[in-house]
Amino acid sequence: MRKYIVGNWKMNGLAASLHEISAIATAAAAHTKVDVGICPPATLIQAAQDVCGPVKIGAQDCHAVASGAHTGNLSAAMLKEAGASYAIVGHSERRADQGETNEGVAAKAAALNAAGMGAILCVGESLDVRDSGAALETVAQQLKESLASVLDPMLLTIAYEPIWAIGTGRIPELDDIAAMHDALSDTLHARFGDAASDVGILYGGSVNPGNAEAILALSRVDGALVGGASLKAESFVPIIVAAESVSA
Ligand code: PGA
Repeated sequence: MRKYIVGNWKMNGLAASLHEISAIATAAAAHTKVDVGICPPATLIQAAQDVCGPVKIGAQDCHAVASGAHTGNLSAAMLKEAGASYAIVGHSERRADQGETNEGVAAKAAALNAAGMGAILCVGESLDVRDSGAALETVAQQLKESLASVLDPMLLTIAYEPIWAIGTGRIPELDDIAAMHDALSDTLHARFGDAASDVGILYGGSVNPGNAEAILALSRVDGALVGGASLKAESFVPIIVAAESVSA
């Protein structure tokens, strides 16, 4: 599977940051073995679309219903019209800040698919769960519960993001990342059968130019979801280069 490197800008970025996307687009065009995405804040999706070249622009969330009385929310169709071809759902910051449940995340992914859009569905354990030794079962169960009954594996990507690794500079042992990706792969196979091989599993949490190559070289790590290091081309481009270097 081609490596997929996605930047999650979170609540960062004004129009003055669009030149970073232009610079990332130039690098993406030169590294043809890697797929690259950026999820800017929704306010920048349309403008990002004008400068993104081969970089796929996505959103950071999406409401589960198509329209209606949901002040402040954005539907899949709205995000698509603005220029997003996919959205992140179930990021741990939204699960914590907005109280999102597995069931709600499943509904969002289904809404995206219904609009012909991709979903990057995030799962990951807390430090307590990691320390208790129950990370594999806990995250596999979280994934199972976050998969809607109607879901197209061709439009699905999973991001394994240990909560304690996000923005902290800490990452799991490489063996632990590999074991988790295998466990999630098994969960996807149980649900989708052979079609599970179409579902990429990204790693996210403190990916940077220094650790990207070792993480991306792991066999079932199909890419990375990158927060802080994606805000500037100077730290995001080396991650794209690392992905290219480990691609056959
Ligand atoms: P980070 O964030 O790379 O800044 O740790 C990753 C994420 O939250 O997607």
